[in-house]
Amino acid sequence: MSNTILLDKRPEGTPKLSDFKFTEENVAEIKDGEMLLATKYVSVDPYLRGRMSDAKSYVPPFELHKPISSGVIAEVLESKNEKFSKGDFVSGRLDWKKNQVNDGKELIKVDSEKAPLSAYLGILGMTGLTAYLGLTQIGKPKEGETLVVSGAAGAVGSVVGQIGKIMGLRVVGIAGTDEKVEMLKSEFDFDAGINYNTTENMKDAIKEACPNGVDIYFDNVGGEISDAILFNINRFARMIICGAISVYNETSVPKGVSVQPFLIKNSALMQGFIVSNYEDKFQEAMQHLGTWLSEDKLNYSETIVEGFDNIPQAFLDLFSGKNKGKMVVKV
Ligand SMILES: NC(=O)c1ccc[n+]([C@@H]2O[C@H](COP(=O)([O-])OP(=O)(O)OC[C@H]3O[C@@H](n4cnc5c(N)ncnc54)[C@H](OP(=O)(O)O)[C@@H]3O)[C@@H](O)[C@H]2O)c1
Repeated sequence: MSNTILLDKRPEGTPKLSDFKFTEENVAEIKDGEMLLATKYVSVDPYLRGRMSDAKSYVPPFELHKPISSGVIAEVLESKNEKFSKGDFVSGRLDWKKNQVNDGKELIKVDSEKAPLSAYLGILGMTGLTAYLGLTQIGKPKEGETLVVSGAAGAVGSVVGQIGKIMGLRVVGIAGTDEKVEMLKSEFDFDAGINYNTTENMKDAIKEACPNGVDIYFDNVGGEISDAILFNINRFARMIICGAISVYNETSVPKGVSVQPFLIKNSALMQGFIVSNYEDKFQEAMQHLGTWLSEDKLNYSETIVEGFDNIPQAFLDLFSGKNKGKMVVKV
């Protein structure tokens, strides 16, 4: 029975199950200041793909033959750390292990009474922060403007659209199935949706869905979908480049539309976004998200996969859109 998941090979193109290895590792005795943790929920995220390659990025690559890590909610089983007690739940970046010893320095306590534990990996975690801070800090929304969100039925996208509606925007979502597009409108209050897999001309479809043009584009996917947005942007449009999942598995530099003429003609802004650059605003963001959740102004969806051994497959499934909302593994 395995209890640890390692990165065995750096994926070439689309990651495969054989890039991961299941092993059995001994769990050390805890020393003073440490605690023994049991993993409860594991977040799988598209950005982990970047860490599996050894290209330079904003976070260091995973080491080969070492455990992979991501956002995890764990229960404290034993503690010799005065800040944490047996029975507490903690959140932070932890290894893909069933049990592990940790000194708690980078972990925060989460309250299972206030929200379901998995929510701290999504709407009350990195997902919610990314949606709120990307939209407000770069998008700078003004009531009545039009917002387009790609990857709209995913974790970040579904929250971005709802915050857009709270802020008085017209919101259009782009997703990969009719069922997801329907969900955007019925569960997340989007005004319109486009299924990019069945749309022949995205440029025209965006124009039709956005009769007043696009003021803000929250980009989760990059590639051709985002190229089509450029033809529809308004003067002083803001484009938040949050993710580019459609090109994460490319093995050569993808070719696309030259953005410069579009930006010049429209005095538009295109800016890369990394949530960790905005740590000083996390508290403000969490306050808004918590309030909107308690007032039922925000809704969230999760795809919960069961079983430690299914973590790698759940990660792979992000690239074929098997998730609606946040993809989480329950251990
Ligand atoms: N910059 C930051 O700080 C930050 C933080 C968090 C996340 N992100 C980025 O934000 C994006 C969304 O992350 P998330 O955690 O919310 O993931 P997610 O959207 O919940 O899951 C990924 C989704 O991407 C879509 N997708 C997969 N392949 C695609 C393709 N070739 N073309 C178009 N869409 C494709 C799928 O939905 P469909 O069925 O609709 O295709 C899938 O459900 C990712 O690119 C991620 O890297 C960035």
